[in-house]
Amino acid sequence: MSMKLPFLKNKQQKDLSEENDLDNIPNHVAIIMDGNGRWAKKRGLPRIAGHKEGMNVVKEIVKAARNSNVQILTLYAFSTENWKRPKSEVDFLMKLPKEFLHIYLPELMENKVRINTIGDFDALPDHTKEAIHYAKEKTKNNDGLLLNFALNYGSRFEIMRAIKQVMTDIDGSKLSIDNLDENTFSEYLYTKDLTDPDLLIRTSGEQRLSNFLLWQVAYSEFWFTDVLWPDFSEEIFKNALHDYQQRKRRYGGI
Ligand code: IPE
Ligand code: IPE
Ligand code: MG
Repeated sequence: MSMKLPFLKNKQQKDLSEENDLDNIPNHVAIIMDGNGRWAKKRGLPRIAGHKEGMNVVKEIVKAARNSNVQILTLYAFSTENWKRPKSEVDFLMKLPKEFLHIYLPELMENKVRINTIGDFDALPDHTKEAIHYAKEKTKNNDGLLLNFALNYGSRFEIMRAIKQVMTDIDGSKLSIDNLDENTFSEYLYTKDLTDPDLLIRTSGEQRLSNFLLWQVAYSEFWFTDVLWPDFSEEIFKNALHDYQQRKRRYGGI
């Protein structure tokens, strides 16, 4: 009897924690992957070394999201304001998708990950577009995690673009102004096929949105960490999920 008790207790604890783990998992997690440059600077390395390291963390967090049963992972990879950076850094960032996919696409395929992007895709360099287009086509029938890269994404640009399309459709009698509501407007955004993020994570200690998903995060839960993106890990991701699981979302109710 006394031999069995600890075993029983452990088993009960394990079952309980497993139950909790699956409870209330965010469907859609969005991450502002920030701090690559500072990570590199701290090590006396060029900023691009931080971006390179950050790329490998993306792979780890994709795995963590899959393991945690997250359905959509949106990663802010390049903003419409990031063009302001030195050309050499921008050029490096524009080559990263191809490099990432070259290394990881086979594994993403194996794990049924589907790749998508949001943002002004047409304005990306041809070589970037080609690499991503190929990956989108190749993964389009996968039914696992949706890995959504925000690339050349800016929320104000997205909203302005939507407004212009709405006005064009009203002009062309494809849409009546009486039918324009929050749901119809959402159909004009890049995220039209996605649910809103449940959890928004930002690394590196900055606590701002930097033009990310302004419309879509109206009721998202925010989670910040001082950890720089290249130091982010599955363990920290799980801490964020765990915190989220304890939160009570009220949406204005009681
Ligand atoms: C995030 O890291 C990656 C991109 C914005 C592309 P940063 O490059 O912004 O790194 P910090 O914020 O300068 O440290
Ligand atoms: C936001 O980070 C954009 C990405 C992570 C891709 P930034 O580093 O560009 O944001 P700010 O300039 O600090 O607000
Ligand atoms: Mg930054």
